[in-house]
Amino acid sequence: MVEQTLLPAQHEQLLVRTVPEMVDAIYRLAVRGAPAIGVAAAFGVLLGIQDQADLERNAFLNHTNAVCDELATARPTAVNLFWALNRMRTRMERDAAANADVADLIAGLFEEAHGIYDSDRATCRRMGEIGAELILDGQSLLTHCNAGALATAGMGTALAPMYVAAEQGKTIHVFADETRPLLQGARITAWELMQANIDVTLITDSTAARVMQEGKVDAVFVGSDRIAANGDVCNKIGTYGVALSAKAHDIPFYVVAPLSTIDPTLADGSLIPIEERPETEITEGFGRRTAPDGVATYTPAFDVTPAGLVTGLITEVGLLEAPNAESIRDALARGAQETA
Ligand code: MRU
Repeated sequence: MVEQTLLPAQHEQLLVRTVPEMVDAIYRLAVRGAPAIGVAAAFGVLLGIQDQADLERNAFLNHTNAVCDELATARPTAVNLFWALNRMRTRMERDAAANADVADLIAGLFEEAHGIYDSDRATCRRMGEIGAELILDGQSLLTHCNAGALATAGMGTALAPMYVAAEQGKTIHVFADETRPLLQGARITAWELMQANIDVTLITDSTAARVMQEGKVDAVFVGSDRIAANGDVCNKIGTYGVALSAKAHDIPFYVVAPLSTIDPTLADGSLIPIEERPETEITEGFGRRTAPDGVATYTPAFDVTPAGLVTGLITEVGLLEAPNAESIRDALARGAQETA
């Protein structure tokens, strides 16, 4: 995988060999972004089981479940992690119920992980095509954090409509919020968009409201880490403020996320577990102390934007305008039908 903590100064590959190494890579944000975390977890399962063909069948089932449990501890918020592990477990249980032997169980898990990878690529493309219809030639967009190719196995979520719009020959401009404290916007989004020759301007997070007030933003596109059943959207800390500013300036606020990011088990966003990161990420980010020793800190990595602030949710089954519990239920049902 690309070692994302080193971007943009160094573009290096990280070789992940074991389950603990995968947990560490996800925790450190070497691989990050909700869909990418899901794909990484599925491949993490393969790392844990690929050499276990000699185990007796029940021992193999227990071992695989333990591997999934270990991977599930990596980060708490992005539901794609648990969704992918669930798919892996479900596949194993289905094959086991059909009396598969251990070699076949392993083959099934390999197929499932590659299926998750392939479908994420296709899903990103589809969301890009749907979202690009909302982007007009000459428009200026704003995004927060990184929801691009590096956050998925494909072309991204929130950045996918921008990539497709550019492919269609539309000239667009993007404001990339730097995204404190780990600077995914500065280090990754700005870098990704520059690689794709899309006109990007880096701004501090606190400049977002200012450029909206100046009339420089036509629409906001962000990704998500978990969407509750009522349409509340959890995304990188700072997204809620961006949504409030967009509302105040009558600017459409679009969320681009695959159905795998929807958590129908949580009635609303207040139930979403919010990761808190080490305080050193805000007191001495990137190795330089910028706060007094002993200062109290509060470090949530995500926030929740109420569904009422979301103009539209772009998924692989279509655009849900002003998403709510009903339209989300319908979209999930359509998605389940399409994959059946
Ligand atoms: O902490 P991170 O970098 O994993 O947070 C990522 C985000 O918040 C993204 O906006 C989100 O995962 C959207 S996914 C394409």
